[in-house]
Amino acid sequence: NTKITIAIDGFSSTGKSTLAKQLAKHLGYIYVDTGAMYRAVALYAMEQGYISAETFDKESLIRDIPQVKLHFEFNADLGFAEMFLNGRNVEKEIRTIEVSGFVSKVAEVSQVRAKLVEQQQEMGKNKGIVMDGRDIGTVVFPDAELKIFMTASAETRAQRRYDELIGKGDAVSFEDVLQNVVERDYIDTHRDDSPLVIADDAIEIDNSHLTREEQFNIVLDLVNNI
Ligand code: C5P
Repeated sequence: NTKITIAIDGFSSTGKSTLAKQLAKHLGYIYVDTGAMYRAVALYAMEQGYISAETFDKESLIRDIPQVKLHFEFNADLGFAEMFLNGRNVEKEIRTIEVSGFVSKVAEVSQVRAKLVEQQQEMGKNKGIVMDGRDIGTVVFPDAELKIFMTASAETRAQRRYDELIGKGDAVSFEDVLQNVVERDYIDTHRDDSPLVIADDAIEIDNSHLTREEQFNIVLDLVNNI
């Protein structure tokens, strides 16, 4: 039973991470949420005052890259690894709508991408990994044995993200969440470096009308057929 690499890419809030976590748990694989890494860098830029609604001081962020240290720590109670930025657990802070509003701008910076991609490739060098993001099947692991591309309508995705944020007690409006989803889709698909595109050999799954269990079973069948 040789271990493989599973790349899961797609638009925001398509349920990539839920599926990836479930799959990793079932297969005894490592799960890596690369969006968390971009979010942690965005949080860093916010905290240093490098990014705001009006400005983005890219040069300062690029200068600081060597001192931005990211790592994951498995939390047995949660059943997944939490994101740490310079030794501090930032798992909650990186999920706010503020960070969501800046992350795609930070993710456009090639120097940021180069550093994170290197770290991601290192984490996957022994295979047995499920990684989700935007460029996993195209850039990080172009040789992955299984590539999934998840899609769903923007409204479906915004509704999911809205329910999640409201559930956590965040006072957000549906309109703001939808706007963020649409904006990130645009930036992610139009950037010069590693835009979100479907890899030639990826299998597309539109989950607008699929339950979690249905998606899981579809992907598990694909894994078992490799
Ligand atoms: O997956 P999540 O929605 O948390 O990702 C947040 C943002 O990080 C994305 O909208 C995208 O701009 C960026 N990202 C990326 N490449 C990845 C993962 C995330 O550019 N592999």
